[in-house]
Amino acid sequence: MAEMKPSIMVIFGASGDLAHIKIFPALYSLWEDGFFPDNFFIVGFARTKMDDGIFRKTIFDSLNVNCRKKPIDEDEFSSFSKHVFYLTSKYDDDSSYHELGGFIASKAKEYNMPKNVLYYLSTPPSVYINVINGIENAKLTSDEYKGEGFSRIVIEKPFGYDYESAKKLNGKILSVFKEEEVYRIDHYLGKETVQNILAFRFANAIFEPIWNNKFIDHIQISALESIGVGFRAGYFDKAGIIRDMMQNHMMQLLSLVAIEPPPLPDADDLRNEKVKLLKSVRPLSLNDIKNYTVRGQYDRGIIGNKQVLSYKEEEGVPPDTLTETYAAMKLFIDNYRWAGVPFYLRSGKRLKIHKTEIAIFFKKLPYSLFAKIGIENIKQNSIIITIQPNEGIAINFGAKTPGFKLDIEPVNMVFNYKSSFKLSPPDAYERLIYDVIVGDQTLFARYDDMLIAWQLITSIINGWSKTGNPIFPDYEAGSFGPKEADSLINSDGRSWNN
Ligand code: NDP
Ligand code: BG6
Repeated sequence: MAEMKPSIMVIFGASGDLAHIKIFPALYSLWEDGFFPDNFFIVGFARTKMDDGIFRKTIFDSLNVNCRKKPIDEDEFSSFSKHVFYLTSKYDDDSSYHELGGFIASKAKEYNMPKNVLYYLSTPPSVYINVINGIENAKLTSDEYKGEGFSRIVIEKPFGYDYESAKKLNGKILSVFKEEEVYRIDHYLGKETVQNILAFRFANAIFEPIWNNKFIDHIQISALESIGVGFRAGYFDKAGIIRDMMQNHMMQLLSLVAIEPPPLPDADDLRNEKVKLLKSVRPLSLNDIKNYTVRGQYDRGIIGNKQVLSYKEEEGVPPDTLTETYAAMKLFIDNYRWAGVPFYLRSGKRLKIHKTEIAIFFKKLPYSLFAKIGIENIKQNSIIITIQPNEGIAINFGAKTPGFKLDIEPVNMVFNYKSSFKLSPPDAYERLIYDVIVGDQTLFARYDDMLIAWQLITSIINGWSKTGNPIFPDYEAGSFGPKEADSLINSDGRSWNN
């Protein structure tokens, strides 16, 4: 395994939600598992007035709720917390960045280490440009300041609001950092089951030969959530599910299930293949947008015996909002492998179940031996890759039922992560933060795959603005989404794998 070099991680927006729910739990788990070198420091940078002690206490409290290592041992935490510091700062004030630069320099000197710095942007996106300007103005990425050290920047989603804003943000970042220093987080890529898609496809002789339009009828990619928008309405209402899930997580899943094998399983080769794949997604005309995309918004309903509010009634959501909480689409990939195979994508909130999966449905046999003796409608073979929960893979096929009578019923052959490996996969953030620290960009979006995904998504958003306002709400919380999403797939003689 690659070794972590002595370094300093600066977390902008360290007082916030993501830092406490994901980043610190991941850092603490990595530390407790012995991954950190002695000289690894974490510096919180935010406006909230705190000293190191109060900051450490907020981390301790949140670890006890959010960390897989909970309950947290106080002595262990005390050793960890000696690596954690806090600077009460202002995002738009150059003096805060000079102070940060001084702090980094003093730690580097004290511990005789290079200025290896990881800048983690965990603020709302509206603050990103201020932070990058601050880093630039204080010359923290200059060779003169860094010396032998390295700088890396980690950016949370949403990366821009549409194609143009993503391009602008990207341009700004690349004026201060080099592409090989930029880590655009898509936490789905840190999930073990998502990484396993490549192992499944390219490490097994039995699957790759049938992974194409000769054998595959269609593919469904679903990210269904039963939760609503919670306390993130302010962000979500500006984004909608199309920006929140489709532009990033769903496009990454689509890429991994459909790419060609890369020459090497490394960052550049893998991301080159993703770019090729995304470039082959057929652009949608306005007519296609009308016929091949669906958007929805949840009404009141019942989830797990509990009555829940409609999206419009959620705290922080304007009552006249037209933001979609559900989207489905049918895409085609115009290349030799996938010509003619529809990819159906859907994602939504407040649905009946919580599951993320890729379902690969195979073509029916050209000829059915058993139809001659009255056994019709043998179910299509399928492979279901469950990303979450119950991470695993199921292969569905037909088997003879026991007894004298010849009958065929669908059965499952199941691989389950927990029972096969006897352990639960680590949290995606642990893997991704580890990769940032060791400098491996394989599981991060590159500027070009990110921008191509935005091109497609922006064309849909623009198309929707021309096709008229939808009548929302149009699906009940606790259902499987709007009726139109069923029609999208049913009209092709297929149905969702619910
Ligand atoms: P928060 O809203 O909690 O913001 C983080 C911190 O940024 C706050 O504690 C606050 O710190 C500062 N901040 C908040 N609003 C402003 C503002 N308007 N101007 C300046 N500073 C502000 O965000 P999250 O932690 O939820 O998210 C951080 C980033 O991660 C975002 O880009 C988000 O989209 C992304 N993300 C979040 C996820 C989540 O589950 N929370 C999931 C995936 C991505 P202070 O006032 O102390 O400076
Ligand atoms: C985030 C979205 O990126 O992913 C959330 O902003 C969504 O809206 C979440 O709930 C889903 O992630 P996971 O890991 O729970 O599938």
